Amino acid sequence: MEVFVAEASDRETMREVVSQTLKRFQVINGVIHAAGIIRPHLIKSTTKGMADSVLSPKVDGTMVLFDLFKGTNLDFMVLFSSMASVLGPYAHADYSAANCFLDAFANYSNSVAKFHTVAINWPVWKEVGIGAGSSYFAELEALLGVEDLQEEMLEKAILTDDGLEAFKRALNSDHAQIIVSPESLNQLLEQSQAPFDPTMRLSRRYRTMEGSSQPMKSRQR
Ligand SMILES: NC(=O)c1ccc[n+]([C@@H]2O[C@H](COP(=O)([O-])OP(=O)(O)OC[C@H]3O[C@@H](n4cnc5c(N)ncnc54)[C@H](OP(=O)(O)O)[C@@H]3O)[C@@H](O)[C@H]2O)c1
Repeated sequence: MEVFVAEASDRETMREVVSQTLKRFQVINGVIHAAGIIRPHLIKSTTKGMADSVLSPKVDGTMVLFDLFKGTNLDFMVLFSSMASVLGPYAHADYSAANCFLDAFANYSNSVAKFHTVAINWPVWKEVGIGAGSSYFAELEALLGVEDLQEEMLEKAILTDDGLEAFKRALNSDHAQIIVSPESLNQLLEQSQAPFDPTMRLSRRYRTMEGSSQPMKSRQR
């Protein structure tokens, strides 16, 4: 295995990464785009710089990769999108838009390139990545005025083995977009259409605080 670190939106650096990879392995069979940043914030407090930092790895990064590989015979290109583009969660406008771009781009890519592209709308992963180890949930909890959201959401998150199985199936499908959800998608879509209520995704023990003007405490200790 060889790891190169590069800015996904920097065409020349990425071209160099591709060239170094070909020098070392002679062939590139597949490309997985998984670069991404997620920062919950309200639109009113989002600066252009903040939105750019979320949009750029996905939008510019995907276009750079596509340009570098469009004339090739890759076996696959996979774009790591998110349920956020399907559900449009509160305080994630830039992240939802960035992932919407990936979903649309997969269709575009399939209409012009020789290889197959699939965008996978992932739910939260329980054991790895953004949800498992970063400050993401702390920021979201502060924004929503709730506690222990991480624990609650990770209860419904996908396990690594199930995610890998879904990934294998996505690779073997000829769809342009695949939504992976451990929860009922219909129920999630219904909730996403309802007027915003920060507690609506939380379980019964959290909702007992509904109606309170105080920030919710998720657990009675
Ligand atoms: N994990 C989840 O629950 C989940 C759910 C839905 C969708 N996804 C999507 O799946 C992908 C992977 O998520 P993850 O959880 O593995 O995230 P992660 O652990 O935060 O990894 C994201 C990676 O993207 C890299 N990156 C960010 N901006 C970049 C840029 N401009 N150029 C190059 N690299 C950049 C980061 O590099 P640095 O470490 O150097 O910053 C990091 O290695 C993301 O696109 C995310 O949106 C994840």
